[in-house]
Amino acid sequence: MPEPRRADVSAAGGSTSGKHASESGLDLKPSGRVHVPSSLEEALPTEGSVGNAFVDDPVFSCRDVSVFYGEKEAVRKVTLDIGRRQVLAAIGPSGCGKSTFLRCLNRMNDTIPGARVTGTVTLDGQDIYEKRRDVAQLRARIGMVFQKPNPFPKSIYENVAYGPRIHRLTRSRADLDELVCTSLQRAGLWNEVKDRLHTLATGMSGGQQQRLCIARTLAVQPEVILMDEPCSALDPIATAHIEDLIDDLRASLAIVIVTHSMQQAARVSQRTAYFHMGRLIEVGDTDDVFTNPQHRLTEDYITGRFG
Ligand SMILES: Nc1ncnc2c1ncn2[C@@H]1O[C@H](COP(=O)(O)OP(=O)(O)OP(=O)(O)O)[C@@H](O)[C@H]1O
Ligand SMILES: [Mg+2]
Repeated sequence: MPEPRRADVSAAGGSTSGKHASESGLDLKPSGRVHVPSSLEEALPTEGSVGNAFVDDPVFSCRDVSVFYGEKEAVRKVTLDIGRRQVLAAIGPSGCGKSTFLRCLNRMNDTIPGARVTGTVTLDGQDIYEKRRDVAQLRARIGMVFQKPNPFPKSIYENVAYGPRIHRLTRSRADLDELVCTSLQRAGLWNEVKDRLHTLATGMSGGQQQRLCIARTLAVQPEVILMDEPCSALDPIATAHIEDLIDDLRASLAIVIVTHSMQQAARVSQRTAYFHMGRLIEVGDTDDVFTNPQHRLTEDYITGRFG
């Protein structure tokens, strides 16, 4: 037998190709990307962002929002509106503050010792950080879906029924059954699970578990869903299911999705926000940001020069 693996590595331009990147005179990583040089850090705006941070009748308005972990400022003075019935994608290099920003929107940073948020965040015009705010009630209005599906170790039915039960959203068992059914339908999962509602949710595939987590969120009838890299643990088919679902859901609610996939951001979002080292650098219509970025940092990131 020949040795196809060895030939493949060479053909793909791997380490057997002979020429080291530094010989070309560029400080390239093996992927062809460059480290962010300090001159680019100097290009960071001290205030504000380029593009259009505002929308008419926003669901969320963030003004000068900063987040500190102890002394460290992880998000700096972000001003951004989030529109109704649309998807905003938050993109940017690892560590730029995407998750930290997302967590500001439902006060999840409250749960992190030493975290402090300044500036204002309003939901439907009301300050979500005001002292008398009921945080449990707030989080019911703002669902969250994480990178790794995290169903409770209970049945599929109980996972979806949990939120409506604690928030007393239904009056009878029949109402609850109905809400569980419609939530699973909206999450595109009903046909796959209708005959096994009382089996353990942890026995489902990863993609099904993620759609169950979305159904669980939908059951409490949120106005917004925050998604932090919801597809990063999923295969392409499960990812396509979630992306179709996101597209269906935006008919009735707002979604903010953090993603490392530029293709995903382009496919599912109407607006894109580019973050870099805690700053919001650029925000605008997704088509504009990807085809005609205004800031050099955005352009360098979306063309894959660093990240
Ligand atoms: N709980 C924490 N305590 C202290 N620092 C934190 C904490 N969480 C995040 N940070 C820091 O805040 C900065 C922003 O982190 P964050 O997780 O928001 O980035 P990210 O853009 O979501 O990154 P990734 O793409 O890798 O998920 C980083 O420097 C990170 O180390
Ligand atoms: Mg993150």
